[in-house]
Amino acid sequence: MRGSMHLRSSDIEDLERRRRAALINSITGYKPANLVGTANNERQSNLAIMSSLVHIGSHPPLLALIFRPDNAERHTLNNIRDSGSYTINHVHSGIIDAAHQTAARYPGSVSEFAATGLSELWRDGEAAPYVGEATVRMGMQLRDEVPLAINGTHMVIGEIVSLEVPSEAINDAGALDPQIADSIAISGLDSYYRCNLIQRMAYAKPDEAPRRL
Ligand SMILES: Cc1cc2nc3c(=O)[nH]c(=O)nc-3n(C[C@H](O)[C@H](O)[C@H](O)COP(=O)(O)O)c2cc1C
Repeated sequence: MRGSMHLRSSDIEDLERRRRAALINSITGYKPANLVGTANNERQSNLAIMSSLVHIGSHPPLLALIFRPDNAERHTLNNIRDSGSYTINHVHSGIIDAAHQTAARYPGSVSEFAATGLSELWRDGEAAPYVGEATVRMGMQLRDEVPLAINGTHMVIGEIVSLEVPSEAINDAGALDPQIADSIAISGLDSYYRCNLIQRMAYAKPDEAPRRL
């Protein structure tokens, strides 16, 4: 690569606002693309694209989402607080347009499912809808909410209580192969990627050389 850019705190601070957001939003690299499904007490549904999903632990199976600073119009966060339930649905290459459109600021009375044409999939006894078109779907139970004092964001931690994946997307080790599931990745807030597996590696040990599976 020719040349490189080296920014220190004051340079980052001096960047034009949108360029700073574009750079910092993309600097963590590939992020997962998910649709978070919720509903309020009247079963009015809501759907929002989110890329901040993080693994917290496997046993119990916990995942965290980071929500932007709280305001009255945070429909997804409010619904999760009220119902304690939400769904996480992987975005695949066939639903990128609709998935991206869920980020638009629709009023609370408008469901992003209806607005984008994605279908609601309800399961008996569950308080949040899944995305019918998704093939990797998780039902989540709220376990903790941690306000992050540093910038007013909120970390929402939930337990996976229901998990659906296409059988052919589970590899010999039992892991999900996101390439076979056609799950896609996001950079920043506007770029959608398909990722290709390069190689799989054996568990790393100090006294053994790296070994490919
Ligand atoms: C690619 C992409 C990723 C996003 N990831 C997040 C995220 O991780 N956390 C968040 O709070 N908002 C995220 N957003 C913004 C929400 O999708 C947006 O604020 C949405 O309108 C929230 O819907 P709601 O107000 O109905 O909850 C993302 C937007 C895009 C386009």
